[in-house]
Amino acid sequence: MIYSIVRIRLVSLVIVATIAALATGCGDDEDDQNNGDPPPDDDPRTVLSDGEHFAVSWDGPDSPLPFQELFELSVDIMEAESRDLVGNADAEFRLRVADTTEGMPTQLTVDTAGDGTFTLQGLFFHVPRTWELRVDIDDGELTDRASFEFEAVGLYEGELPDDPTGRFSERDLRHIFQMSPAPPPPPDPTNAVADDDDAAHLGQFLFFDERFSEDGTVACASCHVPDHGFSDPETLSQGMGETGRRSMPALNATYHRWYFWDGRTDSQWSQALGPLESEVEHGITRTRLAHLIYEDDELKDAFESVFSALPELSDSSRFPDDARPVVDDPEHEHHQAWMSMSSDDQHAINEIFANFGKAVAAYQRRLIRNEAPFDDFVAALRDGDEEGLEVLSEQAIEGLELFVGDAECVDCHGGHQFSNFEFHNLGLEPRSWMPDDPDAGRSEGLHTVIDSDFSAHGPHSDAPDGEMAQLLSFLPEPDFHTDGRFKTPGLRNIAERAPYMHGGHVGNLNEVVEFYSDLQEDPVIGIRDPLLQQVNLSNSEVEAVVAFMESLTGAPLPDELIEAPDSPAP
Ligand code: HEC
Ligand code: HEC
Repeated sequence: MIYSIVRIRLVSLVIVATIAALATGCGDDEDDQNNGDPPPDDDPRTVLSDGEHFAVSWDGPDSPLPFQELFELSVDIMEAESRDLVGNADAEFRLRVADTTEGMPTQLTVDTAGDGTFTLQGLFFHVPRTWELRVDIDDGELTDRASFEFEAVGLYEGELPDDPTGRFSERDLRHIFQMSPAPPPPPDPTNAVADDDDAAHLGQFLFFDERFSEDGTVACASCHVPDHGFSDPETLSQGMGETGRRSMPALNATYHRWYFWDGRTDSQWSQALGPLESEVEHGITRTRLAHLIYEDDELKDAFESVFSALPELSDSSRFPDDARPVVDDPEHEHHQAWMSMSSDDQHAINEIFANFGKAVAAYQRRLIRNEAPFDDFVAALRDGDEEGLEVLSEQAIEGLELFVGDAECVDCHGGHQFSNFEFHNLGLEPRSWMPDDPDAGRSEGLHTVIDSDFSAHGPHSDAPDGEMAQLLSFLPEPDFHTDGRFKTPGLRNIAERAPYMHGGHVGNLNEVVEFYSDLQEDPVIGIRDPLLQQVNLSNSEVEAVVAFMESLTGAPLPDELIEAPDSPAP
């Protein structure tokens, strides 16, 4: 990551000072920037470099630029006077949240035809703030810098009603209307049965089925307890052993892009495969899982009617009882058994394994609770319904004001799931119950996600050329910028699922907000996110932010979604 610097050819010196151009019409005051000169030709997509040697222009998607989505830009470097392209220009490009060192979660790549034109790919904005593109130019004789600013991406664009509370700025309102109502989850093209009813029913059956574990006592639901927001009341979870991190909510997880605290899988179906073979969770193998389905007529029928006929698995010399790849222990008997299989048979087993994940994911896509008092409040705000506003207490409204304003929570917890779905290092110190080695978080996830057999671009994906597959090709190398980053959890239904943070560091929401307020802890790995600032809230302000978060608890799920069905087929 994360500074997203790309060097085309060697660039030497850099001259300072900034000329900013607003890429959107969202009206930032230009006085904030040290730009004396108006942009040439009144075109905000063209700026003069600081020393006025070059004119630089960009072209790309219409304003506002995409948010939470890959996009590309083209950049032309011209002589300032003649506006001729500078054929021998070298350039270094750097994108970051303006006034911070926070870069993109992707790695920028740059192509040039060597004629002064450049194509920038892999742009991805995850923070709804002003972003800055710096271009350091060297034409062999002169070095100079040009800068662009892209204003406030990712906020509500529509008409704003009058604010009957009189408490919110225009920007606050744009954040608030971006948070509600929540749309249905985005499609998952990597899973062809993601929205299939029979697959969801089958998946629900499997989610509660304890047979898929080493000793027949652990199911997904053991650590994703329906009445605890589909997470675990225990700080660390017990399966066949103890997990190294806290369980996460399966509720509303389907909105996410990366799964696990470190984002080590890129789809909800491939996520489900991890715990099955984890020695501390279900502790089974993919061949055993296939045999269990194969040997249960009812389950086999249900599975075959959603997917396709299972291969003949009864030959145990071809399909050992317990075989799986164990990459870090090639001597392991499961690994040896796996290596004894033909690659066609391995593929057949992997397909069954992946399909198990796809059915369970189809079920989890229905675990959504979005309709909370907060949503009623926003609807009332939109409609100018003053009585309707009373659904939130004064305290919760003050908390909302802080959340989108001075407490700066929205940088990471904005949008309808209160998450930017990306990774940040809060600098939490380890707790006594956590494993000894500092947890590298996203750096570990990056190592795993690219090479997985079950990734969005892999052989079991139903969209190997889709958007997720493309995003994978722009992931950065793990380094100290990615160390200690964890996924930003969504905050809907947060009050129901203490304790909090990746290691269950904090027992209640008051302490969470106090942590942010004082930032008394120091990172043991990586660097604290530059977006975090001590905000020094008073006790009553802390309580207000908590009251606001308590207003995010949605209406309960229907009973038929939170119990094990009687049979695997409807
Ligand atoms: C022994 C406890 C345990 C079991 C069993 C278990 N999980 Fe988890 N689950 C966890 C823990 C712990 C994490 C976080 C692990 C990490 O990030 O390293 C997690 C993470 C997740 C996430 C990620 C959510 C997100 O937002 O990224 C989902 C979804 C999930 N589990 C679903 C399942 C499913 C489906 C099953 C059954 C196939 C399952 N879990 C079995 C403990 C468990
Ligand atoms: C720089 C991004 C960022 C900002 C700003 C931020 N958070 Fe977070 N938040 C995160 C991340 C990342 C985590 C998970 C961290 C971990 O477990 O290491 C998190 C965790 C949480 C949790 C616990 C969620 C859970 O499921 O365990 C709550 C509650 C929370 N944040 C509320 C807030 C509030 C309130 C604010 C404003 C005062 C805020 N956050 C500001 C990124 C951020």
